[in-house]
Amino acid sequence: MAIHQTHFLLESLLVLLLISSVKKSASVSASTYDFSSSLNRTNFPSGFIFGTASSAYQYEGGAREGGRGASLWDVYTHKYPGKILDGSNGDMAIDSYHRYKEDVGVMKEMNLDAYRFSISWPRILPNGKLSGGVNKEGIRYYNNVINELISNEKIFFRNDFRDYAEVCFKEFGDRVKHWITLNEPWSYSIGGYASGLLAPARCSEWQGMNCTGGDSATEPYLVAHNQLLAHASAVNLYRNKYQKTQKGKIGITLVSHWMVPYSSAKHHQNAAERALDFMFGW
Ligand SMILES: *[C@@H]1O[C@H](CO)[C@@H](O)[C@H](O)[C@H]1NC(C)=O
Ligand SMILES: *[C@@H]1O[C@H](CO)[C@@H](O)[C@H](O)[C@H]1NC(C)=O
Repeated sequence: MAIHQTHFLLESLLVLLLISSVKKSASVSASTYDFSSSLNRTNFPSGFIFGTASSAYQYEGGAREGGRGASLWDVYTHKYPGKILDGSNGDMAIDSYHRYKEDVGVMKEMNLDAYRFSISWPRILPNGKLSGGVNKEGIRYYNNVINELISNEKIFFRNDFRDYAEVCFKEFGDRVKHWITLNEPWSYSIGGYASGLLAPARCSEWQGMNCTGGDSATEPYLVAHNQLLAHASAVNLYRNKYQKTQKGKIGITLVSHWMVPYSSAKHHQNAAERALDFMFGW
């Protein structure tokens, strides 16, 4: 199981962000909410991008359709439904696999500039590896999503792990110009391997989370290290092989709280800096 899981460790981290090239449509009606008269786009620098984001497992559904393989979260939610508050799973999620056109329509109606979405690893590489075959139907699905976004006059972003990343660069890089390798590597290593709150829910016994194994003192660091290596290999691949012709950019998404020193005392400042580094200092 542990070995099997490593293949799917980073199953849907490949993220794509779209940016609209279009001017705000004049037809968007004035908001009915009062706050927009005091807080609206004019309060932000010009060029500020307003967008929305999704993540494959939470959005797509169609978990057993179109040749998709199983991800870590599929295995986790089906094997341990008790770990999910209402025992549910992402088999259908919000069905974006079938309803992506409607979703893009809603984004357009909301006048958003950007959409960041992830590309499910097992949907394009159902066996986790390139040697297990590329799922053409999965590629077709993402091509449809990208084209739907483009036909609504938008541009893009996203990322990942060598083979997986390469399939994505190759198949979508002609239109995707902004890639994000990892989405919140902190959440993945801490949630999955320290607190045990997220798949694969590994943690030490003292966490009291009924984890199936793990070591909260060591595994999060190993996972963080491997995520950095994965990020580096995808970035390296892109820079060396694709960037020149595809002319895109590649980066990472980090999540962080902001830490404010309790007082101006040196040890408080140091503590705040250390805390920030633990979350943000990737
Ligand atoms: C946007 O907010 C500014 C104040 O921050 C206000 O002067 C302006 O009228 C607002 N615009 C709209 C359309 O409500
Ligand atoms: C702990 O997890 C196992 C599955 O691994 C489950 O059968 C058991 O009910 C869980 N116990 C508690 C107290 O949640």
